[in-house]
Amino acid sequence: MTSSVRPLLNRRLAEFGTTVFAEMSALALSTGSINLGQGFPDTDGPEEIREAAVRALRDGRGNQYPPGPGVPELRTAIAAHQKRHYGLSYDPDTEVLVTAGATEAIAASLLALLEPGDEVIALEPYYDSYAASIAMAGGTRVPVTLRPDPAGDAGDGHRRFRLDLDELRDAVTGRTRLLLINTPHNPTGTVLTRAELTEIARIAVERDLLVVTDEVYEHLVFDDAEHVPLASLPGMRERTVTIGSAGKTFSFTGWKVGWVTAPPALVGAVRSAKQFLTYVASGPFQYAVAEALALPDAYFEDFRADMLRKRDVLAAGLTEAGFAVFRPRGTYFITTDIRPLGESDGFAFCRSLPERAGVVAIPNAVFYDHREAGAPFVRFAFCKKDEVLHEAAQRLHRLSS
Ligand SMILES: Cc1ncc(COP(=O)(O)O)c(C=O)c1O
Repeated sequence: MTSSVRPLLNRRLAEFGTTVFAEMSALALSTGSINLGQGFPDTDGPEEIREAAVRALRDGRGNQYPPGPGVPELRTAIAAHQKRHYGLSYDPDTEVLVTAGATEAIAASLLALLEPGDEVIALEPYYDSYAASIAMAGGTRVPVTLRPDPAGDAGDGHRRFRLDLDELRDAVTGRTRLLLINTPHNPTGTVLTRAELTEIARIAVERDLLVVTDEVYEHLVFDDAEHVPLASLPGMRERTVTIGSAGKTFSFTGWKVGWVTAPPALVGAVRSAKQFLTYVASGPFQYAVAEALALPDAYFEDFRADMLRKRDVLAAGLTEAGFAVFRPRGTYFITTDIRPLGESDGFAFCRSLPERAGVVAIPNAVFYDHREAGAPFVRFAFCKKDEVLHEAAQRLHRLSS
């Protein structure tokens, strides 16, 4: 053993020892609670795509190391997807990279593009791997906080979170290397508007910043929201690494198939880091995801309609139970404010919720550097069977009775 004085986990990762997801999932098991904490669907994606994976396995496609950048069928399908949905052209040979989920795409991008000490501006609250990946790359995270907008942003009476573009502009310094953007945004359900993204693009161009944009929920936008890829805005294609995930779009989170689209120099840089993380992953699944990306529009429309219905079931249940609900315009998460229930500490609330109501949720504070800014917010996932959501809604009612 090494000296007992020196901690085993290095300083860069010291703050990331354990995640609240593990604690909450264990609580869900030990109390028999409905787990609306972690964001994975409880129904698999399309049967034909599952069968495509079985076929690939049986036919011996992808059982040995696939090519480093991903199998050509999948790279071609990713390029075709970007063209079909957004009119963006990428060369499958030089501008597409398949990764072990979006998580590896994020880690590889940051490990490749940051020098120690570089600042990364990320929208807070943020997906938890961002902070850890920035830390592993030796970067410094600079959060710009999305804050509740009491007026609602669409004049429809629904409270939403809002990005303060002046705050974003002011956060840029001479040490800023890149903007790490996430839209649709986990956990708040915010979908950045074209006007907001245009302003972000302007800042990136003016200050000559790279942009890594996590768009894994690109197909989960509701109401009148529109997903606008940052790379589609003027001056952005050449400086933007766009990240997608089959886990989110096709409900196969365990397959861990993600991807990066970017110009050749950026893809080359990200690939340099990626090849020493996993080198390659998910061989047979890559062939199946290639087929999934080519599914007709009806698949994407039905997927969205299905999730919209689920959102409305859970949002209604949460509202009836007394939460203030931030109705999400994207993703499969609902952020709530627990203050109308007479509570203010999301951690304590989430630890007691299984006992009180038989439901598990996640305290948003874990997604913040400014923990106090996230203290009263709690996130629920609605990518669950309708009957599970109805049962959860009924159980949550106990909070107000
Ligand atoms: C915003 C965001 N990015 C990335 C990921 C990870 O995606 P993957 O499972 O493809 O690694 C998630 C998963 O929850 C997410 O919410």
